[in-house]
Amino acid sequence: MASSRLATRAARPVLSKTLFSTFAAPKSFGAAAIAIATRRYNSSKTSSSSSSSSSSSSSGPKTPPPEPKSSSSLGLIIATAAVAGGAYWAYSSYSAPSSEERLAAFAEHATKDDYQQVYNAIAKRIQDVDDEPDEGSFAPALVRLAWHASGTWDRTSHTGGSGFGTMRFEKESTTGANAGLDRAKIFLEPISKQFPWISHGDLFTLGGVTAIQELGGPTIKWRGGRIDGAEDKIPPDGRLPDASKGADHIRSLFENRMGFTEGETVALIGAHALGRCHTKYSGYDGPWTFSPTYFTNDFFKLLEDEKWHVRKWDGPKQYQDDKTKSLMMLPADYSLVQDKEFKKWVHRYATDNDFFFQEFARAFSTLLELGVNFKPNTPYFEFTRLDDQ
Ligand code: HEM
Repeated sequence: MASSRLATRAARPVLSKTLFSTFAAPKSFGAAAIAIATRRYNSSKTSSSSSSSSSSSSSGPKTPPPEPKSSSSLGLIIATAAVAGGAYWAYSSYSAPSSEERLAAFAEHATKDDYQQVYNAIAKRIQDVDDEPDEGSFAPALVRLAWHASGTWDRTSHTGGSGFGTMRFEKESTTGANAGLDRAKIFLEPISKQFPWISHGDLFTLGGVTAIQELGGPTIKWRGGRIDGAEDKIPPDGRLPDASKGADHIRSLFENRMGFTEGETVALIGAHALGRCHTKYSGYDGPWTFSPTYFTNDFFKLLEDEKWHVRKWDGPKQYQDDKTKSLMMLPADYSLVQDKEFKKWVHRYATDNDFFFQEFARAFSTLLELGVNFKPNTPYFEFTRLDDQ
């Protein structure tokens, strides 16, 4: 049922009628050009008359206004020619908006329904695409892409974050910390083609929202407004967390540099309920929970309840659960129970799933907005899960 509705929605034109007509009808460009021409002509008249009036009011010798040079009909012809010339000049110097400008203008006015269509297309693709047999889903990689696209924010220098969609550049996405995220970007490419008006930053972050919700997580409030900025907006490499480090490192990045509270920091790392580590990408190996395609507070429960030991293997230092030896914790994850203050939050989230969902939803929404210059009054949207439509 959901898919038949989706087909109906997909059949709808991508650009809304009102906006499209503003840009598509050549007549309106002509009208706009004439309007601009008239305005420019009038304003040049006003400025020349005001400059002549100012010169006439200056203290120098007063020049009498020039006599009319000819008959009134000649004057009319000259005036008409001037208006026509001005209009032609304005028309010929008026450049129609490029297709990028039109798309950006559309994005600026996109409605909840427009974004819900993008959400649906991502959600449908998460269900349909299963060419990652070991993973069960692309969704965890989408969550990671959204987080890495945003988590470079530095509140002191006001650089990084998702505002300019710089993760679309290889220079950023191929750094060591982003290894493996190419597959999430490739996964989103058809969506980007289907909805060319959505900016990359909006798409990457909406992908994370969709993934969390479709994997059973909380509803995430989201706003559109990121733009495709130039390469000079790419943040310096080295801003994402180092998994081999502990509590001090996590605090300095999440609390000091990005501005999260302690509770928000711990909640965000709870996203490790999803997905897994891949030796080919990070060097680490294995999932954190038994249900890596279902969003729960299990990361905290397992961290608190299980006994963990350093795994004996050739790879980097990581922890392994004693009981099944099939789960893992990064040194950074494990520091959440080694640090007295972090540990209190782990306990709260492990024992109260609703509270975890509430805190995660808030913090994730904030994370996705780091470094974004929203226009005033940009509305928040909450999207409906595919199964609830
Ligand atoms: C101390 C902070 C963090 C560290 C050190 C860290 C480190 C890592 C590492 C090493 C991986 C494995 C990558 C791979 O081998 O494919 C990973 C995966 C993942 N991370 Fe984090 N992460 C942190 C915080 C976060 C946050 C805040 C989120 C989201 C809000 C997040 C979401 C994920 C997800 C969903 C995966 C699984 C990706 C997949 O299955 O492909 N992480 N993280």
